Amino acid sequence: MTHGRGESLDTLPAEVQALVVRARGVQANAWAPYSRFPVGAVLEAHDGRCFDGCNVENASFPAGICAERGALATAVAAGARSFTRVVITTDASEPAPPCGVCRQALVEFAPALDVYSVTASGRWVQWSMTGLLPSPFHPASLTVS
Ligand code: THU
Repeated sequence: MTHGRGESLDTLPAEVQALVVRARGVQANAWAPYSRFPVGAVLEAHDGRCFDGCNVENASFPAGICAERGALATAVAAGARSFTRVVITTDASEPAPPCGVCRQALVEFAPALDVYSVTASGRWVQWSMTGLLPSPFHPASLTVS
């Protein structure tokens, strides 16, 4: 399920390192006063465009949204519908995988997405979406005979 891991940013491809820098930038804009767990996400489309997201919490807790789905909503609103990779940054000691709701949201548009998660110290893990969500509910699951 894990496609790669490393202890420092310099073991990542240069283009992914650039996305990590960008994700950390948007992570700084997270609104996470309740969890104190800011998250940044950069979602890269097949056409090369990148879309930013951060978690946006709310005093009514269920109204909050994760960084990955924020990035996805921005991307789809801009006309992007297929994606190569997402880079997630947090301050956790271990790379944080996307939550189940975000996996389901992303798999609709990116069944083979490469998912990178990176800590503040540069520790990273790479997963494939197929490994993270092996049996998704997908559009064909709606078929009624
Ligand atoms: N969070 C994300 O932004 N992405 C995830 O995949 C997991 C969790 C956010 C939600 C909440 O604002 C905070 O992290 C703690 O759960």
